[in-house]
Amino acid sequence: MQKLIIKGKKELSGKISISGSKNATLPILAASILASNVKVRNIPLVKDIFTMVELLNFIGLKTKLNKKKNLIDISNQDKNINTLAPYKLVKTMRAGVLVLGSLLGKYKKAKVSLPGGCAIGTRPVDLHLFALKKLGAKIKIKDGYILAEAKNGLVGAKIRFPSISVGATENALIAAFKAKGITILENCAIEPEIIDLISFLKKLGANINLKGRTILIKESKVKNSRINHQVIFDRIELGTYMIAGALLAKEDLIINKIDTKIIKYEIDILKKIGVRIIKKKKSVIIKKSKRLKKINIVTKPYPGFPTDLQAQLMVLLTQADGVSKIKEDIFENRFMHVPELKRMGAQILIKDKTAIIKGPSKLTGAEVMATDLRASVSLVLAGMIAENRTIINRIYHLDRGYEFLESKLKNCKAIIRRV
Ligand code: EPZ
Repeated sequence: MQKLIIKGKKELSGKISISGSKNATLPILAASILASNVKVRNIPLVKDIFTMVELLNFIGLKTKLNKKKNLIDISNQDKNINTLAPYKLVKTMRAGVLVLGSLLGKYKKAKVSLPGGCAIGTRPVDLHLFALKKLGAKIKIKDGYILAEAKNGLVGAKIRFPSISVGATENALIAAFKAKGITILENCAIEPEIIDLISFLKKLGANINLKGRTILIKESKVKNSRINHQVIFDRIELGTYMIAGALLAKEDLIINKIDTKIIKYEIDILKKIGVRIIKKKKSVIIKKSKRLKKINIVTKPYPGFPTDLQAQLMVLLTQADGVSKIKEDIFENRFMHVPELKRMGAQILIKDKTAIIKGPSKLTGAEVMATDLRASVSLVLAGMIAENRTIINRIYHLDRGYEFLESKLKNCKAIIRRV
């Protein structure tokens, strides 16, 4: 099994280009089942994307992935379609469940494996099914599969989500495209990745209006012409490297290929902590930090502070003066990195949903274990500020979501290698 070995305390300088967003690409690929021919650009070459492409191939679409150009051509000739998402693919990537909306909308039936729980929480899909049922789907659960059918097609409805879910909003939005009449979705997630999905669906011909957390979708025809879409940048990757810069910038660390409008809140939070950031339109420059200050944060749906940056922020706060608190309000078990950070010398106490972090702490290298994508990258950050050598096991989690992590860091003078 592969490991990462990091020699800590090496300051960073140079340039990092941010990749396309994994969490925007996945629903767009799932929605491309509706189209006949699409080209999606700026896709990150990470494991979850490869798994989604495998799923599209399994369903019967033709895909051509150009790794050199980070783009994929997808065509659906509606021939030999398999309206099935098998367990072997969905179990390794929960976003597989997003094909449910497209298959049901277009082919009026789908059999999709239940994704099951994962390291960060139970992660049910009840909200996805709730919305699809409101659109007229008959749904049964049998042998670990969701069996969904809408013999006469889906029908528009007014649906208010009882709580905010990114995936359920995406599935409902994709399904509603082909539903008769008008669909109104209330209390939706409005993450930038959902806005990107809306812009993709509009190119496909969808009639969608977004106001606050309400999305209105009018029945429309899918265009036959070739669609070309450029995926937005990965705001979580950006946040991760801004934190790396905050911890270790020697001279300027320049992070580009981004849009600072989308991550205003995260930048404000980092500035409050004392991170020195110069904001340009399409880049940020992180300067060497002088003094980092404590802060209290609660993770929230967008535009709040993202749960996907919680673990990385925690590493930053181990170096801040005083006692900081992070409340994880999205997932019930997303503190798996804490025991590993404590083994490296961090002073963190968990009380219910809150991590209490006392800083600054001197971290020292250790052999640690990655448990999920963001927990893994927090250990990379911790390893980079720790004294001596850190060995990170189970790094396949990192490969699910960070494109060219080692080479991007090495280019900025980090000492990191994969064995
Ligand atoms: C998306 O997951 C992201 N994944 C996650 O990214 C991210 O952490 C999460 O949104 C929150 O921002 C993708 O976009 C592929 P949710 P998703 O439905 O859609 C509960 C990463 O590291 N819930 O918004 O699965 C759920 O258990 C990751 O890149 C229900 O109860 O998240 C959670 O507590 C991991 N019933 C909360 O809602 C449902 O039917 C938010 O989950 C659905 C969700």
